[in-house]
Amino acid sequence: MEVGGSDSDGREFKNAAEMWREEVGDHHKKTQWYTQGIGYWEGVEASEDGVLGGYGHVNDPDIKSSEAFLNTLLSDQFTDEKRNRHLAVLDCGAGIGRVTRNLLIRYFNEVDLLEPVSHFLEAAREKLAPEHLVVSDSHKASNFYCLPLQEFSPDSGKYDVIWVQWCIGHLTDDDFVSFFKRAKGGLKPGGLFVLKENIARAGFVLDKEDWSVTRSDSYFKELFQHCGLHIYKSKDQKGFPEELFPVKMYALTPDLPKWANRTRPKAQPNKPGIIK
Ligand SMILES: C[S@@+](CC[C@H](N)C(=O)[O-])C[C@H]1O[C@@H](n2cnc3c(N)ncnc32)[C@H](O)[C@@H]1O
Repeated sequence: MEVGGSDSDGREFKNAAEMWREEVGDHHKKTQWYTQGIGYWEGVEASEDGVLGGYGHVNDPDIKSSEAFLNTLLSDQFTDEKRNRHLAVLDCGAGIGRVTRNLLIRYFNEVDLLEPVSHFLEAAREKLAPEHLVVSDSHKASNFYCLPLQEFSPDSGKYDVIWVQWCIGHLTDDDFVSFFKRAKGGLKPGGLFVLKENIARAGFVLDKEDWSVTRSDSYFKELFQHCGLHIYKSKDQKGFPEELFPVKMYALTPDLPKWANRTRPKAQPNKPGIIK
C-alpha cells in the first residue's frame, strides 16, 4: 500500500511499510503488538456497549444490515437442493458472541466462536448456553476457541461461511494474508468469507489505544489479491452515527466469480462484405 496514513496521535507515515516497520519490525515488537491489542480488550467490560466501543446502540442497525446481506448470499449460494443442508459458520473475533446471538445462530445449524479474550468468550458461552437461549434443537453454538486469528487454522472443509467482523484490524498485513490463505481450507465448496470492517477514507489509520489498523477500501482490495480472494458482493453499512468510520461488508470467495470465466464471443473471421 503506497498511500500514506496516520496514527491516532496525528503522526504521519509515508506508506504502510513504514508504519509496519516501526510497529512490528522485529520479533519482539510483533509480540508486543499482539499483547497490547489483546491487553486493551482484556480491560473492557463484557457487554455489547463494551465490544462496540461505547456505541451499544449501533447493534440494531448493524444486525439489520448484516442480516439483509447474509440473506442475499444464502439465496444466491444455497439453491433449493442445498437449502436443507446442515449449515456451519465460524464467528471470528466473536467478542461476547453478539453477532452469533443476534444473527448467525438463527441461520446456521452450528456456530463455532473464536475469541482470544477469555472473559469475552466465557460471557459468550454463558449467553449461548441452551438454558439461556433456545433457537431450535437443530441450531447450536458448538465450539468455543480461545485463540487469536493469527494462530488459528480451521478444520478442513467445515464451514459454509467464515464471518470476520471488527477484528481483522488487529492483524498485521502478513498475518492477514496467511490467516485467509489457511482459512480458505476451512470452507466447504462454494463457501464464503464475510468481512465486515471500518473503512479509512484513504490509506490507513493506526489506533494506538486498541492497537488496530483501519484500512481503506483499496488497501483491503490489495490484500484480498494477495490472499487469492475475489469480491463476490459488497455493501456499505447505512444508518451509523456520522462521527464513526464508514463500514463495509465484503463477501469473499476463493473461486473465480462466474463472470470471470465467461469467454468473449469469438471474433468473426474477415468475411467479404456485400457491396451494394
Ligand atoms: C470491536 S470487538 C468486536 C467483537 C465482535 N466481532 C462484534 O462485532 O461484536 C473486537 C474483538 O476483536 C478481538 N480481537 C482482538 N485481537 C484479536 C486477534 N488477534 N484475533 C482475533 N480477535 C481479536 C477482541 O478481543 C474483541 O473481541
